[in-house]
Formats: sequence, C-alpha cells, structure tokens
Amino acid sequence: MPHRAPGAPGQRAGNYLTGKPIKYYRPGGSAQVRHLIENGFQAFNAGRLSEACHIFADKMLAPENDTTIGLTIAGALTPAGLGGCVIEMIDRGLIDFIISTGANLYHDLHYALNFTLHRGSPFLDDVELYEQGIIRIYDVLFPATVLLETDAYIRDFLVRSGLSGPISTSELHFRLGEDLLDRYPGCEEYSVVARAALAGVPIYTSSPGDSSIGMNIAYHELMNGGTLMIDPNRDVNEVCAIILAGKQNGCVILGGGSPKNFYLQGQPTLWEVYGIPKGGNDYFIQITTDQVVWGGLSGATPAEAVSWGKVNPGVLPDTVVAYCDSTIAFPLFCEYAIGSEHGRRPRKELLHKREQLVADLVRQAKETRDAKQKPPVANEPAEIDRHR
Ligand SMILES: NC(=O)c1ccc[n+]([C@@H]2O[C@H](COP(=O)([O-])OP(=O)(O)OC[C@H]3O[C@@H](n4cnc5c(N)ncnc54)[C@H](O)[C@@H]3O)[C@@H](O)[C@H]2O)c1
Repeated sequence: MPHRAPGAPGQRAGNYLTGKPIKYYRPGGSAQVRHLIENGFQAFNAGRLSEACHIFADKMLAPENDTTIGLTIAGALTPAGLGGCVIEMIDRGLIDFIISTGANLYHDLHYALNFTLHRGSPFLDDVELYEQGIIRIYDVLFPATVLLETDAYIRDFLVRSGLSGPISTSELHFRLGEDLLDRYPGCEEYSVVARAALAGVPIYTSSPGDSSIGMNIAYHELMNGGTLMIDPNRDVNEVCAIILAGKQNGCVILGGGSPKNFYLQGQPTLWEVYGIPKGGNDYFIQITTDQVVWGGLSGATPAEAVSWGKVNPGVLPDTVVAYCDSTIAFPLFCEYAIGSEHGRRPRKELLHKREQLVADLVRQAKETRDAKQKPPVANEPAEIDRHR
C-alpha cells in the first residue's frame, strides 16, 4: 500500500461508511414530476427550470429541428449519483456529445469497477477521516483504496491498450469505455464512460491534465516511457466539426467551468478563426449556482454570449439560466424530457463520424480561405456575416 501519512487507507473505516451506497439514479419519465414542473414550478428559478424543460422537450428534441445537443458537466455530479441521468439521456439519443471535467469521468469509473461510494454527512471531523483513510466529497464518503485501485486500473488500461502518440480525449474515453465493457460486462448500466462508448457518444474533457485520469497518463509517460499524448487541438477541431455539421445547435450546461466554454467556443472558432459563417447556438440551457456579476465565464448569461457569436441573436427566448443546484434540478429536467412526446430520438453516433466531420471542416475552411484570397468582386460584403 503506498505511503499516505499518517493514516493508512481502509484500515479502520469506523462507522463512516455505514451510509447507504450511492447508486446511479435512472429517470423514467415520471408523470408526477411532469405535473409538478407544469403546474407547480411557476415563478423564480422554478419557473426558469420549467422553461428549460419546455425549450428542451418541445424545441431541441423536436424531430423537425434535428438539433445537435451537447451536454457539459462540471461540479461533482457523478459522485452524487447523477451518472444514471446521463446514461438514460445517452441511451435515448437525447444528447449527442458530452464535455465533462475529468473528475466526473474519473469518479464514474468507481461505479464501473464496482466500488461503493456512501451517503454521509458534510459535518464530520476531516482530520479523523484522514487518519482513517476516508475521502470526503461534501457528504459523499469512500475509502481511499477506491482512489488507489481506480488509479491502478487506469494505469493497467494504458499499458494494455497500447495507446500511443497524440489522440483526442474522445478517443481516450472511447477506448477506456471499450475496455470497461470488455472486462466488466454489464457495467454500461452504471458507467457513463462505458455507456457512451456503446452508444457512440463522444466524450471530451476540456482540461485533460486536471484530474486523476490525467495524473495517471502523466505517470504512464514518466514511469513506463509511454508516448500517449492528449492532443487538445484534436478536441477543439472535433467539437467544432460536430457543431458545424449540426442543422441546429443547442446545449445543456450543468454548472459552468471549463466544459461550458469548451462547448461555447465552437462557434467563435468557426467564424473568428476558420472564417466559416455558421452562426451561434439556437438553444442554450444552463443550470448553475454561478452569478453573472463576477464577470467570469461560468456565470455569463446567454445574452452576453450573443456578443461573442456563441448564441444567435434573435433566439434569446430559446435560452434560459436556472439558478439551481444541478443535483436537484437535473434529475427533474431528465424526468420531464424522458416523459415528453420526444423522449427518445435516433442516436447520431457522432463518435464514429468524427473523421468525416473533421474532413468536412477542413474542406469548408479551405474554401473560405481560398475565396478570401481571390481579388474582391464589386458589391461583395466587406465583412463575413457570422450570424445565420
Ligand atoms: N480526483 C479528480 O480527478 C478531481 C477531483 C475534483 C476536481 N478535479 C478537477 O478540478 C476541476 C474543477 O472541477 P469541479 O467539478 O470542481 O468544477 P468547478 O468547481 O470548476 O465548477 C464549475 C462551476 O459549476 C458550478 N457548480 C458546481 N457544482 C454545482 C452544482 N451542484 N449545481 C450547480 N452549479 C454547480 C460552480 O458554480 C462552479 O463555478 C476539473 O478540471 C476537475 O476535473 C479533479
């Protein structure tokens, strides 16, 4: 057991790990929750959440709009058991790609590997927890051995997979998901990473070094001489290509953080960098505790995003921010969507179309560049119209 002064993990768990196991909750489209959202959620942030449900279920999921939907995840959602909501949405084709913090994907692996996280209390003695080798995420408790064994699995996977050279995070997570499916059959029922690999949903991480997955990739390079590199350029271009190919585009943003921007920068990359007049998002839903007044991206509103070309002007009625804890609001949102008329869509399986989509991006970018290099024609607009 690696040294972890002063407590050795898992030696004396006391009574801390007697709380109920945290299980991935799978929403089933509850008629009562839909009734509550329709009739009880009328004003303030309940009203905003109700609006978010309507925008998603009535517009984003409507077959005629054929919206490409990105889900971004920040905050400790998989430790709180919200992975089941994501799995259900993936399975039903209600989200087409995911951008998540590495932490949410790392903690998802505990469920895939059959480790137990427990319900606990936020009011515990952390020095005692440390001495007893127990990790606390607010009121979620688990032995430190869960971290060590999950890390060991990641390192073994990296060796076993033979992955080398630069790859996108979507490829890394796909290969990780395939490995989980292979070694832990049935784990797609309680792992987002495994389910996404099975359903062809690409998962990106905006800051790959900033999680225990990234930490173990760094180990692999230093200690095993591994040549695997996460190439963020590939991620930027793949996300851009996915957005470019969308007939309409919309997002569900949980929390904020770097996954939010990594999604929203897709449109500016297209118009500002590649010169492709794609336009911004058609729909924007955010569930967050962040405020706009601090000036940070996490709290920035859809209105502010219009000025960046991230959201189409004129679609503000189809944008909403619900200031709620997403551990409460997201399961309700999913119940509503799943129970709606369009609660199942054909999956886009973008994971397997990435190469073609990036090739289309390259083609369009080259056409735009070549057109710019031509001598100007009389009456040609001086500036590219970046909005549809
Ligand atoms: N062991 C690990 O791998 C590990 C563990 C924790 C964090 N991290 C890393 O640290 C970075 C930060 O991650 P983070 O998840 O703490 O994100 P974060 O703190 O950056 O969260 C982003 C924003 O989301 C909002 N938010 C968070 N929880 C929310 C909730 N329940 N409801 C509504 N809004 C909420 C917050 O206002 C916050 O500003 C990531 O890169 C992550 O991968 C890694």
